[in-house]
Amino acid sequence: MRISIAAILTIGVLQTAPVFAQEPVSAYPATKVPDRIMLSIGEKPASGMGVSWRMDTTVTTGYVELALAKAEPELINPVTLPATVETLDLPGAKAHYFSATFTGLIPDTLYMYRVGDAVNRSEWIQFRTAAEKFRPFSFLYLGDAQNDHKEWWSRTIRAAFQHEASAAFMLHAGDLINRTNVDKEWGEFFYAGGWMHAMIPCVPTAGNHEFYRDEQRKLTLTKHWRPTFNLPLNGPEGLEELTYFFDYQQVRVISISSQSLLLSKEDSISQVKWLENVLKNNPNKWTILTMHHPVFSSGNGRDNKSLRDAFQPIFEKYPVDLVLTGHDHTYGRGTAETSPQQKRQPLKGPVYVVSVSGPKMYVPSLEPWLQRVAANTQLYQRVKVESDKIRLEAYTVTGELYDAFDIVRNKNGEKELVDWAPGLMKERLNLPASYRERYKAEEKAEYEKKKTEYLKRKKQ
Ligand SMILES: [Fe+2]
Repeated sequence: MRISIAAILTIGVLQTAPVFAQEPVSAYPATKVPDRIMLSIGEKPASGMGVSWRMDTTVTTGYVELALAKAEPELINPVTLPATVETLDLPGAKAHYFSATFTGLIPDTLYMYRVGDAVNRSEWIQFRTAAEKFRPFSFLYLGDAQNDHKEWWSRTIRAAFQHEASAAFMLHAGDLINRTNVDKEWGEFFYAGGWMHAMIPCVPTAGNHEFYRDEQRKLTLTKHWRPTFNLPLNGPEGLEELTYFFDYQQVRVISISSQSLLLSKEDSISQVKWLENVLKNNPNKWTILTMHHPVFSSGNGRDNKSLRDAFQPIFEKYPVDLVLTGHDHTYGRGTAETSPQQKRQPLKGPVYVVSVSGPKMYVPSLEPWLQRVAANTQLYQRVKVESDKIRLEAYTVTGELYDAFDIVRNKNGEKELVDWAPGLMKERLNLPASYRERYKAEEKAEYEKKKTEYLKRKKQ
């Protein structure tokens, strides 16, 4: 009997129980061949980038070769840079991680590099340095990847790349993985993103899931973080490669370690002081900040008051234009003001965005700060920066434009938000599957009531 694909989908033959009931064996051991190649954003991306990669522990000396990329398959004056080595020592996952920093590069120039040792090398990988002065560009922003990277997150990072392959960098707003010191999850993170991680400079901020408590109950960063990335070291002491900034074509991009801020008084004080300084001495056209926890929560029952108290006045004072976060496993966008949805509205502070790229889904809070919400939706965002405008577009993983807004600034420095969302698709507010099953009738009714109030408020 022949069954057409349409028939299979209709009768649900494919919706059977999963074939693999057991946890498959970790398939990501280090070998003598370099893998997990990561291009990290440099402090000065017009002249430098960081690179890191993994090989097994029999390889003790690694290096990177760098050359100008030309159409001819020929090398013109390649340089060889020695790499530093760090050992990642976890049960079943011992490996050498190498890293090197490119400096003194020519702005707006296509380079190629390869990594490895004398025997085994990667392919040549191309990347472009930033221009020295302002020039419009775009970048990709992804919320929490966190779980089931291979199964579900692969499609998000690949859809994002397919949409904007020339992105200047890819920003991850924390919780890149779920369990600290579990190598398989990083294996899947690299499986999903493959060579994209090596080509597009990465801008990661750390989330709560990147931290654990050590034997002394001390808040500790996952052992994978520092070997995996080679990020700017311009943050406060003790928060290296967590709290940092870089300037990309007249846009200052800042990463804050919100988990450190929330759980350590010392790290909170040092970051607030550091941030004020970084914002005070800022000659750039625009300022974009990322951290994992949202200033205004989009997830039901969540609130980060101490974070808001620490940052909101600073963001409004200097000002910060856009704040990109994750953590709440929903999509949410709005401003600090409680207001109905309007086509144009003046901005006193940043536009706040929460998003999610992986498959873990929570219930939306539907609070008054929100102007556009999505539940149960994997998304990626493209941010386009122009001289007088920043546009953020959120796309579902299936490629539908879900949210769009502009932050426009006039000659006097006054800003307004132009909201394109009302003309877009209907808001996706249905509960995720796990909550549809778990919620009692009263909880479902309560959510429906909130939804009605939220939609009514926006129409006012
Ligand atoms: Fe989180």
